[in-house]
Formats: sequence, structure tokens, C-alpha cells
Amino acid sequence: MKSRKILIAGNWKMNKTTAEGVELVKEIAAEVGKQSEVEVLVCPPAVALDGGGKALEGTSIKLGAQNMHPKPSGAFTGEISAEMIRHHFATYVILGHSERRTYFFETDAFINEKVLAALKSLLRPILCIGETLEERDADKTLDVIRTQLEGGLAGVSADDMTSVVIAYEPVWAIGTGRNATPEQAQEVHAFIRKWLTDKFGEAVAQKVRILYGGSMKPVNAADLLAQEDIDGGLIGGASLEARSFVEIINAAKAAS
Ligand code: 13P
Repeated sequence: MKSRKILIAGNWKMNKTTAEGVELVKEIAAEVGKQSEVEVLVCPPAVALDGGGKALEGTSIKLGAQNMHPKPSGAFTGEISAEMIRHHFATYVILGHSERRTYFFETDAFINEKVLAALKSLLRPILCIGETLEERDADKTLDVIRTQLEGGLAGVSADDMTSVVIAYEPVWAIGTGRNATPEQAQEVHAFIRKWLTDKFGEAVAQKVRILYGGSMKPVNAADLLAQEDIDGGLIGGASLEARSFVEIINAAKAAS
């Protein structure tokens, strides 16, 4: 029995047109759109937030964005703000994904600005952190995690922290088919929980959900979710098909 409600979140990345996305959310909603044992979230590309959100009306499935700019408005070509996301009744935003850190050179300081801006706009940030294979091989995993937590969460109050979700996504496990073992993931999740306890106190740390992401699939979901400090999953590839996403949600229900 998990003390925290499991969150299963689909990060579609740059996949699906609005029409395809609407189709997918309808398929997911038909299977798991009425249950409330597991919190289910889909994060389509920004242009599909409107269509996806409308297709989710009347279901228990939540909507999130994949990124946002920290400023409320202005001359930032190509960017979207927290308010624009909220306008579509989205409640979550993924921030600091490793793909944004790698391909768009996002720093912990910039990600921190986004975390604070999201909280101010009452959006729940899903802060992604994780080490590269090189860093793991050099035994630097926990140092990297600590740096990303300290940087990404600077200035967040204990009260606000309960609205934040952390996603541990080892970079070497993302899209590679090579997931972290449940033991490897649990070790890092326990470290994150301990860091949160030291910084925000036990009561807050016990409330924060820490998701695992990186090649989570129906075959490995149950074992990962059985770990004490794994409170859900941030799913890429397996969230692009209703069948595999729903199977992961069903594994989460069984683990709840
Ligand atoms: P995959 O599930 O495709 O490995 O992607 C994980 C991820 O990056 C989710 O944000």
C-alpha cells in the first residue's frame, strides 16, 4: 500500500498532431478515464493542449505541458507562458527535461526560474533530473542529482514544495530500451527523499512524489513501482500508444 498516490504521466515529446492526440486521449480515457486510484496525466505538444484538453473534459485524466518560459509574456519568439498553459486547463508542466538541457542548453538556474514561475501561476512543476552514463560510470550520480535539486529548487518554500513532482530520469535510460534496475532507481529515489527531508522537513518530503522515467514499459513497470520511493512514472515511448500506457496504469493500480 503506497502512502502517496501514484502518478503516471505521459510525455509525448514531439509526437502526434492534434488530431492524432485527440484520438489517443479518447482511447486512454475509454479505458481509465473514470478511475481515481491512480492519477493519470498526459503531456501533449503545446499545439495539442487545446484539443487534448477538450477531449479530456469529464474524465479524471489531467493535462500538462512539456515546457514553458519563465516570463509571463513578451518578446520570446516561439515560447509559451504559464498563463497560456493554464488557459487550457492544464495543471502540470514538465520542466528541465534532459532533452531540453542537452539540445537547448537549459541550465539549473534557468530551470529554477521556470519552477518558481510555474508555482506562482499555480501550475505543478515536474522537475526532471538525472545523470548521463559518463557521470554514472565516474560515480558522480548522486553529486549530479544533488546539484540539480539544489539549483532547480532554489527559493521554493516548503509549502510550495508539496505541489512539485520530481522525475528521476537517468539520461542513459531515456529512449534506449535500457531502464534503470528497480534497485538502481530506488537508491537514487531514496537519496532524493533524504535530500528533501533535510531541506524541507519530513512531513513535506513524505508528500512529494518522485517519478521514475527512462524506458518504463508494461514489462518493467510493476517491479519499478514496487519500490518504496518510486511514486509513479514519466513515460515517453510507451505513452504514445493507448495499450501500453493503459497497461502501465493498470500495473500502477495493482501497486497502489
Ligand atoms: P522513454 O520512456 O521513451 O525512455 O522516455 C522517458 C522520458 O524521457 C520521459 O520524459
